[in-house]
Amino acid sequence: MKDLQNILKVPGMLTQNEVEYLYRLGQLNPGKGVIVEIGSWKGKSTICLARGSMAVGGEKVYAIDPHRPLAEEGYVEDTEAEFLTNITQAGVETHVVPMVLTSKEAVTGWNQPVRLLWIDGDHRYEYVKQDFLLWEPHVIEGGIIAMHDTIRKQGPKRVLWEIVFRSNRFQQISIVDNLTAVRKVRRISLRGRLAKWLIIGCRGLYIAARKMRFPYAKRAGRWVLKKLTT
Ligand SMILES: C[S@@+](CC[C@H](N)C(=O)[O-])C[C@H]1O[C@@H](n2cnc3c(N)ncnc32)[C@H](O)[C@@H]1O
Repeated sequence: MKDLQNILKVPGMLTQNEVEYLYRLGQLNPGKGVIVEIGSWKGKSTICLARGSMAVGGEKVYAIDPHRPLAEEGYVEDTEAEFLTNITQAGVETHVVPMVLTSKEAVTGWNQPVRLLWIDGDHRYEYVKQDFLLWEPHVIEGGIIAMHDTIRKQGPKRVLWEIVFRSNRFQQISIVDNLTAVRKVRRISLRGRLAKWLIIGCRGLYIAARKMRFPYAKRAGRWVLKKLTT
């Protein structure tokens, strides 16, 4: 990807695989809706998504984040100024609409179709669930919902299990490191359902192997899941 090294220098929690994958997600379904990001922090994922969208002449990224300290989640600084500087330095400011609001505030009166919803805000269960339930109805059929910290944090993990995996409206699970993405459909086919449960099974084995600290389980499991799902 163009300027990967520059994106990797922006502070943030994304791995190189995740950076590359978000760039690819930003390129999907251009012309069909905007990209919504919940949780921008200093702009690393915003830049990946905006660069991806710009590469295909796609729509803007609506970057929602109150940018306030949030002690419960370990955020101690106001990040708005640094976010804006990083966006400008990356040359994506024409493709990013900063919304300095919580996701709940931002959804009020929202009326644009969303082709990609990226959830990486407050990772506590009730907030991830709220983000998902408030914004999922705006995602177009065939659109993508991607979430971060779906392997190591309980909140996103539980939402994925309760709302996404058990539902018949999401298929084509992709797992790249700590990121999980799914495609929203009207109804999943039988083949799609079988593929979905095979991937969920492999993911369960990977999580169990990580907990038991099998040698190489982390690296090997990540590689297998990425190969299997993307
Ligand atoms: C894990 S960081 C985001 C990291 C970012 N995506 C990146 O790639 O570097 C989580 C962010 O979510 C924001 N946040 C917390 N609660 C939020 C809410 N209710 N709505 C939107 N953003 C929220 C925090 O301010 C913080 O900046």
